[in-house]
Amino acid sequence: MGQNLWSGGAVVIGAGYVGLTLSAFLASKGVRTTCVEKDHARAERIRRGEAPIHEEGLQELLRRVVDEGTLNVRAEMGGVLENSHIVFITVGTPTGSDYIPDLSQVQEASRQIGEALKSSSGQNPLIVVKSTVPPGTTWNVVRPIIEAASGRVCGEGFHLCSNPEFLREGSALHDTMNPDRIVIGAKSLEAAEALKSFYDHLYTPRKIATLITTPTNAELIKLATNTYLALKISFINLISNICESLNDADVGAVAEGLGLDPRIGPQFLRAGLGFGGSCLPKDTRAMRGLAASLGVDTSLIDSILEINKAQRTRVVERLSTMLGGLAGRMVAVLGLSFKPGTDDVRESPSIEMVRELLSRGAEVRVHDPKALNNAKQVLESGVTYCKSVEECLMGVDAAIIATEWPEYSALNPQTARSLMRNPLIIDGRRILDHEQWASAGVKVYKIGLRGPDG
Ligand code: UGA
Repeated sequence: MGQNLWSGGAVVIGAGYVGLTLSAFLASKGVRTTCVEKDHARAERIRRGEAPIHEEGLQELLRRVVDEGTLNVRAEMGGVLENSHIVFITVGTPTGSDYIPDLSQVQEASRQIGEALKSSSGQNPLIVVKSTVPPGTTWNVVRPIIEAASGRVCGEGFHLCSNPEFLREGSALHDTMNPDRIVIGAKSLEAAEALKSFYDHLYTPRKIATLITTPTNAELIKLATNTYLALKISFINLISNICESLNDADVGAVAEGLGLDPRIGPQFLRAGLGFGGSCLPKDTRAMRGLAASLGVDTSLIDSILEINKAQRTRVVERLSTMLGGLAGRMVAVLGLSFKPGTDDVRESPSIEMVRELLSRGAEVRVHDPKALNNAKQVLESGVTYCKSVEECLMGVDAAIIATEWPEYSALNPQTARSLMRNPLIIDGRRILDHEQWASAGVKVYKIGLRGPDG
């Protein structure tokens, strides 16, 4: 199967962060790729070579592969399997009820693949489930749907692997081009080896560490990885809250010391407003839903989620105390995306904080270098959207740094002071030198440090 996979075309179902970057990358490597995106408007934009998301380098690459004709985009599956040997499922799996992911898009994609297979005269393709799904989904949900719709049997009429994705938003293309590991879950070694040799070819001359295991393990590895990252963040935020009640403690130094222990490592120990985005919150909830459904104690996972939620409210509470109430106060929120480098505002701590401020009667002004438009789609009315940081800071009683965009680290304290009615900044992402700002006459309350109000 190996060389055949490489020599045929690829189909990618779903043009989200994973599907779109994978499509562009495969096409740039000369693989004739068809991306199937059911949202007609989104498909049309991509067909014109326009990236519907902000990711560094994606726009340029997309335009190139669309112009060269190696990437085709369509809204329907019909006929796409004829000359394709590998099919990636990269559709969304949003949180459903009881924290269990909603698999309807995965089921729909599986059904479509099955139907396309039924009428296909092409060779038996390898179906690769990249969407993040609960353990057991690839084998117990995807396989039977494809078998029923195609009339073919897995292992004979098609092959199946789970292959979770670990890319980060904000560096999606870079991560797709440079994965640090590949996890393949398959029941048949033949299918696993075929996918491995496809990737060996794709990443030549680099050798990527690859784990071949069962589909269930592969699916659980993905959920466990994101839950563990969320655990690290909530843990450091717990330590951060302790630091705020001690004299002379700084979570930055504590995290640095923790990170020196190779068993812990320095990454994902940045204290702040907590984790957001479309993955860590959703996958931690999915892990919670899974544990609960199996009768496994969920208290650790509950704590991860609770600490995360409380981080935003704490900041608003703190600000309210400092300002003697929020009603009628004007507050600037700098940063709306859930992290820098992306225009994604899904489950952004910043968006939730804006809502909290509004509900307490504050007047809110917001700025973000990339995410203003997306924020407008989700935020209620009553927010002032500012095109520049300076405009946002004009006349405010306080500012909160909610996303660590480089332009906020580069802010000049004197300029900020001259614009603000009351020079007070809550540094929710720990990017300012609070002593330098204090000497310029701006009070900075930095998360993880005892505040200027003691
Ligand atoms: C996350 C994982 O990091 C990826 O490996 C995974 O593939 C992806 O989810 C997914 O499942 O698709 P992503 O959601 O892009 O990637 O974002 P992260 O870089 O993990 O950051 C998530 C949130 O945690 C952000 O809000 C960030 O500000 C916050 N964070 C991160 C902290 O508060 N502290 C840290 O030390 C690190």
